[in-house]
Amino acid sequence: MSSFKEKIDKSRLPKHIAIIMDGNGRWAKEHGYDRIFGHQNGVTSVRETTEAAAEIGIKYLTLYAFSTENWSRPQSEVDALMELLIDTIERETPTLNKNNVRLLAIGDISRLPGNASEKLQRCIKQTSKNTGLGLVLALSYSSRWEITNAVKSICKEVLDGNCKLEDINDELITNHLTTKSIPDPDLMIRTSGEERISNFLLWQLAYTELYFTKTHWPAFKKECFYEAIYEFQQRERRFGK
Ligand code: IPE
Ligand code: IPE
Ligand code: MG
Repeated sequence: MSSFKEKIDKSRLPKHIAIIMDGNGRWAKEHGYDRIFGHQNGVTSVRETTEAAAEIGIKYLTLYAFSTENWSRPQSEVDALMELLIDTIERETPTLNKNNVRLLAIGDISRLPGNASEKLQRCIKQTSKNTGLGLVLALSYSSRWEITNAVKSICKEVLDGNCKLEDINDELITNHLTTKSIPDPDLMIRTSGEERISNFLLWQLAYTELYFTKTHWPAFKKECFYEAIYEFQQRERRFGK
């Protein structure tokens, strides 16, 4: 039986894939462990997916790692997630460099604890020359936060006389978002069976193909990722035309 990886048409790859990595807690509970164990195992899937994307030549992979709303989780879980973030970034930097992966981040990074944002900035800098996959971590990110900031910044430009009301269009708004240098996702994957957007890339997902799988994030392996791409390639995108 041939694998999904072999079945993928390499000449029609999605340029940007975004993933809502969901189901860590439920996966852990099903295996008789606490939620943190689920998050720890979710890191393996981050590694697998990043490698898989780099291997076949995807340009951008955005991972929703922590939402603005996730700050409202119990403090012990937030602390554990931040610690995991710091450890992972530190440990994975050499591998990212080896695989020519450039790390980027979107979200309200200023809300991260000091050492987390420091290590994140360091990894971003240390991988900035890489020319392969752009790995975008959405951290303390929510789309409404992002759009609110874009509106504020456009209003300020208008008030300061640096932008005219007539100049506000699709492109100008796009250029005020944290994703400004990144193309819109072609494919958005959400794991664990929930079929909602949860405040992720609301503007950017306008014409993205959505793919939902019941697999929990810690169980999401390379072949699951390739299956999503294969399924994406069977679809017809019309963009309203
Ligand atoms: C996704 O898994 C990870 C984060 C949101 C940080 P969850 O923690 O949401 O796991 P479930 O959805 O409760 O199973
Ligand atoms: C979305 O998952 C956020 C991330 C994966 C980081 P949640 O588990 O927080 O979303 P809801 O609460 O199910 O909508
Ligand atoms: Mg969840």
